[in-house]
Amino acid sequence: MKKLLMEKTSWLLLVILVLVLLVGAEGRKSRILDESSSYDLEYKAISCRAHSASITDFGGVGDGKTLNTKAFQEAVNQLSQYASDGGSQLIVPAGQWLTGSFNLTSHFTLFLQKDAVLLASQEINEWAVIDPLPSYGHGRDAAGGRYISLLFGTNLTDVIITGENGTIDGQGELWWQKFHSKKLKYTRPYLIELMHSDNIQISDLTLVNSPSWNIHPVYSSNIIIQGITILAPVKSPNTDGINPDSCTNVRLEDNYIVSGDDCVAVKSGWDEYGIKYGMPTSQLVIRRLTCISPYSAAIALGSEMSGGIQDVRAEDITAINTESGVRIKTAVGRGGFVKDVYVKGMTLHTMKWVFWMTGNYGSHADTHWDPNALPEIKGINYRDVVAENVSMAARLEGISGDPFTGICMSNVTISMAKKAKKYPWTCTDIEGITSGVQPPPCQLLPDQGPEKSEMCDFPTESLPIDNIEMQRCSYRLNY
Ligand SMILES: *[C@@H]1O[C@H](CO)[C@@H](O)[C@H](O)[C@H]1NC(C)=O
Ligand SMILES: *[C@@H]1O[C@H](CO)[C@@H](O)[C@H](O)[C@H]1NC(C)=O
Ligand SMILES: *[C@@H]1O[C@H](CO)[C@@H](O)[C@H](O)[C@H]1NC(C)=O
Ligand SMILES: *[C@@H]1O[C@H](CO)[C@@H](O)[C@H](O)[C@H]1NC(C)=O
Ligand SMILES: *[C@@H]1O[C@H](CO)[C@@H](O)[C@H](O)[C@H]1NC(C)=O
Repeated sequence: MKKLLMEKTSWLLLVILVLVLLVGAEGRKSRILDESSSYDLEYKAISCRAHSASITDFGGVGDGKTLNTKAFQEAVNQLSQYASDGGSQLIVPAGQWLTGSFNLTSHFTLFLQKDAVLLASQEINEWAVIDPLPSYGHGRDAAGGRYISLLFGTNLTDVIITGENGTIDGQGELWWQKFHSKKLKYTRPYLIELMHSDNIQISDLTLVNSPSWNIHPVYSSNIIIQGITILAPVKSPNTDGINPDSCTNVRLEDNYIVSGDDCVAVKSGWDEYGIKYGMPTSQLVIRRLTCISPYSAAIALGSEMSGGIQDVRAEDITAINTESGVRIKTAVGRGGFVKDVYVKGMTLHTMKWVFWMTGNYGSHADTHWDPNALPEIKGINYRDVVAENVSMAARLEGISGDPFTGICMSNVTISMAKKAKKYPWTCTDIEGITSGVQPPPCQLLPDQGPEKSEMCDFPTESLPIDNIEMQRCSYRLNY
């Protein structure tokens, strides 16, 4: 009996010993794994950062259910202490990170790793209401305030939002329904808005189902937005892609946008509010944009352009199943100007109008607009355009007594659709010239002969934003 107990005990000891050894080995193995699980992150950015942290360090949980608004705001607040000490980056690993709006800080990078998804909260009470933009006077959906954007920043410098094509999902369906049923008390939020900020980079991300506009830099300068995929149902309301608004020195490159409104909409305030604020959008370059937007334009200038739009250069634009190419929308009462616009190289397929300009867009902020505030539309250049399956080549409607002038079109080949409109051009209250344009343009755009096919070209000097070079930033991270 005693011997048996002894044997049992020694067996037990043996088992425990083996277990301890195994666990020890496991422990060592996982420590080794930990060391090798530090990994290298490398990307291009306008600035690299001295400090890194993960949202998990602040209690974030990426299960798609836990609300992370506080974790994100706490992370940004903590990391803002490094603004004058080399800056910081917040890494968001793979996972579904449900969050309400949070504010960004200066000298800061938000980095969404591959398969990281920021899911916008569907709790409307989570969304703070902020003042309307001073250059608009009103919200767009309802007079008065507007819901703050998911990612928001104001009076910042050196802000980067980037990643390995991680996603920001606005879960917009709820907002679109509220918009359609006229149940919105305030204007819908955007996905990203930066106000009064300088040195901004937004790159290598996918934005889906925004409640309204996707990316809205306003009253800001030195902005690079590149490698962004924006996806929204083509019938979703006002899901504009990228809207530079009263901004200077902006570069939009290699963006792919499918949306329910203009892929890029260049703006500068609304009627008397925009005129008073008086801040134009200028020095904007748009390259290699691909757009699908059956009810809107690849690039729109306006309709809110009351602070003015000047020196826009668009190059290598591709649009498929889109209403128009580069359109100008304005109205009596807007004031302001749209001038020195250059478009070079558009490949278009299945379009309602290749060229569309209207001075009769209406859509006023309120009834106080000034009937004497006439917009000046001048110096609008297009060259090297190929379009197929087009219903109408152009619909160009200036303002009576305030014609749109200096329109230049060269080297344009438009193939009409089987069911095209009878008259490919309608032109009223416009002035300009053409060369090498097919089908033959309206009489208000006289042909200068085929030898002038290289007119309407870009200015020769480049814009300052093109001199900004990105650095290669590399980090060794331990998780
Ligand atoms: C974010 O900034 C806006 C505007 O400055 C402010 O109204 C809001 O309270 C800020 N949110 C937080 C969480 O600090
Ligand atoms: C942000 O900058 C604008 C324009 O310079 C200024 O009017 C405003 O007071 C600033 N806001 C804050 C919170 O500093
Ligand atoms: C980013 O993700 C989107 C959506 O999944 C995809 O369509 C796009 O091709 C991706 N872009 C890159 C550069 O991988
Ligand atoms: C041409 O455009 C029409 C709409 O105007 C569209 O229904 C049709 O599918 C297009 N054809 C091709 C070949 O893309
Ligand atoms: C006309 O446009 C086509 C297509 O964009 C381009 O390949 C060609 O070089 C242009 N011709 C001239 C004279 O610029």
